[in-house]
Amino acid sequence: MAKTFDHVEAFDFSQSFITAAQQIQSGEELKISIPVEGDISEEVSVVQEPGVDADVMSKVNFWQGDACALSEYAENKEGFSTYDGVVMANLLCRLPNPQACLSALPQIVNKGGVVVIVTPFTWLEEYTPKHLWLGGMNDPVSGQPMYSKDKLKEIMEANGFEKIHEEQMPLVIREHQRKYQYIISEATGWRKK
Ligand SMILES: C[S@@+](CC[C@H](N)C(=O)[O-])C[C@H]1O[C@@H](n2cnc3c(N)ncnc32)[C@H](O)[C@@H]1O
Repeated sequence: MAKTFDHVEAFDFSQSFITAAQQIQSGEELKISIPVEGDISEEVSVVQEPGVDADVMSKVNFWQGDACALSEYAENKEGFSTYDGVVMANLLCRLPNPQACLSALPQIVNKGGVVVIVTPFTWLEEYTPKHLWLGGMNDPVSGQPMYSKDKLKEIMEANGFEKIHEEQMPLVIREHQRKYQYIISEATGWRKK
């Protein structure tokens, strides 16, 4: 985002993710240990993608925050503003209240601004109480499946956004050198009317 926008506010609930991002941003080398097999691991260095130099990185402000508290930030947080672009990457189905996050978007997105939501809709009660899932269950009355992408569209349209893009976005998470999780997130783009 920092390659395209003048300024980026970037937050995550995990302080250790934020500390790691700030470490890379300050030019320090970040080393992590990755599993190879059994007890064996190896140390690797984290590097930036091409084209992300110190100048680009300096446009980002990293901080620990809660995506369910966007509304509070919009009202109270110093330096928090309204934005032309918002990216929520693989976040929605990790939130205790995804609807609270989506409902705050009209407050923080400028007219004509775009929200990109990337999510595999992996609903788990461990993260989101079932009554707050945005789909992923059968309608208790009709028994018909209620798909998350339909519910997301309904919520985003009610919040004043129109869908402008949809694509399938594969990603891979390494478990060890011979085992990977293959995930296909759905990426959708929404413009504020
Ligand atoms: C599946 S990971 C995705 C990480 C990263 N965004 C990506 O796409 O690679 C889910 C992330 O959501 C963060 N998260 C969970 N609850 C959150 C919340 N309430 N507010 C902000 N971030 C949250 C977690 O700390 C974790 O980094």
